[in-house]
Amino acid sequence: MKKKRILIAVMVIAVIAMIGVRMLGGGSHTGIDNNPEAEVIGDRKILVAYFSWSGNGQQMARWISEETGGELFRIVPEESYGEDYEACADRAKNELDNGIRPELSSHIDADIMAQYDVIYLGFPIWWYDLPMPVWTFLEEYDLEGKTIIPFFSHNGSSNGANSVNRVAELANGATVLSDEVLSLRYSNVSDSETEVKEWAASFIN
Ligand SMILES: Cc1cc2nc3c(=O)[nH]c(=O)nc-3n(C[C@H](O)[C@H](O)[C@H](O)COP(=O)(O)O)c2cc1C
Repeated sequence: MKKKRILIAVMVIAVIAMIGVRMLGGGSHTGIDNNPEAEVIGDRKILVAYFSWSGNGQQMARWISEETGGELFRIVPEESYGEDYEACADRAKNELDNGIRPELSSHIDADIMAQYDVIYLGFPIWWYDLPMPVWTFLEEYDLEGKTIIPFFSHNGSSNGANSVNRVAELANGATVLSDEVLSLRYSNVSDSETEVKEWAASFIN
């Protein structure tokens, strides 16, 4: 009897979490520009690396790059998440639950990566955590001695849920500025150019 109640409680919690994220993700399509960013060449000390599905993080990354002169790098999974929200949400959940690191189609040569001292790292909150392509990205490179400054957008998980801790866990040897992250609600991104640029500038001036 007790087991049955526990089982029902677990199922209810799982359903609420599923519905919760579907509501969190809804209405978040601001439009992404799929034209590739210019190739990174490592002549700057700053990299602005981002993963973005519906465009909010991309917009933030471009402002940060404009402000800091950092080179832009988009984290692109080999297999696209497509445009359908439900399909994207299901795949993202499966990847997170099973620790699947999707292959990336964009890479930075090790000698170019070695040039950067600072990496602004952008992502959306997905399922209260860091999207798996960003796990792949962080595990791919030698980040020893670099400073990583996370920025993200969300639809409710304003403290980043598990994402920022995850960056710190995966970015081996790097200093992650976990207390200074930039968090923006998705619907505020388009009006936040000044805030984003001031935040970005505060680390380099
Ligand atoms: C698969 C998926 C899962 C999401 N999970 C969350 C979540 O757990 N918490 C939250 O606040 N927002 C969640 N969202 C909303 C996104 O974080 C938000 O829309 C963000 O601004 C998207 O950034 P992007 O346009 O750069 O992809 C989710 C969106 C998607 C597509």
